[in-house]
Amino acid sequence: MAIFNHRFSLWALLALPAIAMLSGYGRGSVEAMDLLHPSGEMSARLMIIAIAISPLISVLGPRKWLQWMAARRRALGVAAFAYAVLHLVFYIIDMGNVADMVAEALAPGIWTGWAAFILMMVPAILSNDRSMRALKAQWKRLQRLVYPAAVLTLLHWIWVHNNLGPALVHFIPLALIVALRAFKSFPHAKQGA
Ligand code: HEM
Repeated sequence: MAIFNHRFSLWALLALPAIAMLSGYGRGSVEAMDLLHPSGEMSARLMIIAIAISPLISVLGPRKWLQWMAARRRALGVAAFAYAVLHLVFYIIDMGNVADMVAEALAPGIWTGWAAFILMMVPAILSNDRSMRALKAQWKRLQRLVYPAAVLTLLHWIWVHNNLGPALVHFIPLALIVALRAFKSFPHAKQGA
């Protein structure tokens, strides 16, 4: 059936964890607080994967699987933002009132989450053909907001639990790939190659 094309399958796959979280919440087997962890982690992981694709192509050279991923980078970025929205919804339900949210908004582990969310929102909203055509060179520049958003996500993850481990496990591989790409683009590295 035409509806079961590749694009539909990718979206269905990306939506599966959200469906599991929402159905668990709907059945009452988990609370909103418990779902902050999987929704935040899923958002950060998708963001890291989307960012890693270009530097991986630079480091490893063109590979079929990387080209496949590159063609789907916008979907991965939008899905990362969708999980951030879900994460925020669970946060709002868990907090239960605006006054408590405002009271903790300036805590290091919280403002970094809000700032990452706002920065992610711009590229996510503009991730469509119409915006791409309308904004031309500006579009690429706006997509780069995902880099400061990633740094803020790293800080959010570290500060929200005062724990370096899980955040670094996710972000060190990305930092290594980005550093390798930078190293490869140095003139002396090219001469040595
Ligand atoms: C919109 C504003 C945001 C708020 C208010 C917020 C709030 C929170 C809170 C309260 C926690 C602690 C959860 C717990 O106790 O287990 C948390 C964890 C987390 N958040 Fe956010 N967050 C926000 C945005 C984001 C964004 C944009 C991302 C990713 C791109 C993100 C990724 C994470 C991750 C990875 C964790 C750690 C999960 C864990 O290991 O427990 N958050 N967030």
